[in-house]
Amino acid sequence: MLNHIGTEEIKTKRLLLRRVKVEDTDKIFENWCSDPEVVKYLTWKEHKTKEQTRGVVSRWCELYQKPYYYCWAITPKDDPEEVIGDIDVVRIFPNSECCDIGYALAKRYWNKGIMTECLHEVLNYLFSKVGFHRIEAYFDVRNRASGRVMEKNGMKYEGILREYSRNGDGYWVDVAMYSILKREFKYHKD
Ligand SMILES: CC(C)(COP(=O)(O)OP(=O)(O)OC[C@H]1O[C@@H](n2cnc3c(N)ncnc32)[C@H](O)[C@@H]1OP(=O)(O)O)[C@@H](O)C(=O)NCCC(=O)NCCS
Repeated sequence: MLNHIGTEEIKTKRLLLRRVKVEDTDKIFENWCSDPEVVKYLTWKEHKTKEQTRGVVSRWCELYQKPYYYCWAITPKDDPEEVIGDIDVVRIFPNSECCDIGYALAKRYWNKGIMTECLHEVLNYLFSKVGFHRIEAYFDVRNRASGRVMEKNGMKYEGILREYSRNGDGYWVDVAMYSILKREFKYHKD
């Protein structure tokens, strides 16, 4: 049985993961939603206007009313107003007590181990507090950095799903799938 508790704060060594606020819209737009490089392998195109981002952020904020909604703003611990990325549960498959996770980070923070740190703490939260049995993550096969984040968190490669997703330009792309089971996850503080 899943024990849904919604999105509560998580502290990692360098970061504070907290709920997104409507006031974060400018940062979210500037830091990653408007950056074509960040969204290159995602299912949507970069936002051209702040209004587009505001619409998405407002939807996320409404969804916090649902106890099964998990979406964190990634912020430096010493500056929680500086939103540098997000990590969320994309879908929940209640019958198999399984979910899948998505994430994005502002480009100037790439390759510092930040998403690896976030994913580790979010996996811990979802396994130990919510009680998921299995957690999956998917990426466009060309997006190797995303695959590394999964591997560094002990997730196992399950295979390629052929033309599983459309990218932001509308083209079908092959997607790699990784997963981890609750019994396989080993938490390490920092
Ligand atoms: C994917 C993403 C979240 C990674 O975040 P990050 O904080 O930079 O990740 P980390 O620093 O924890 O780890 C990145 C790893 O990928 C490796 N890497 C980076 N670019 C790579 C590339 N082009 N090919 C292979 N490996 C690459 C890094 O060397 C590092 O591995 P290492 O520690 O073994 O050296 C970030 O690049 C991002 O936001 N990309 C755009 C959005 C996105 O693609 N989201 C995922 C959708 S599935």
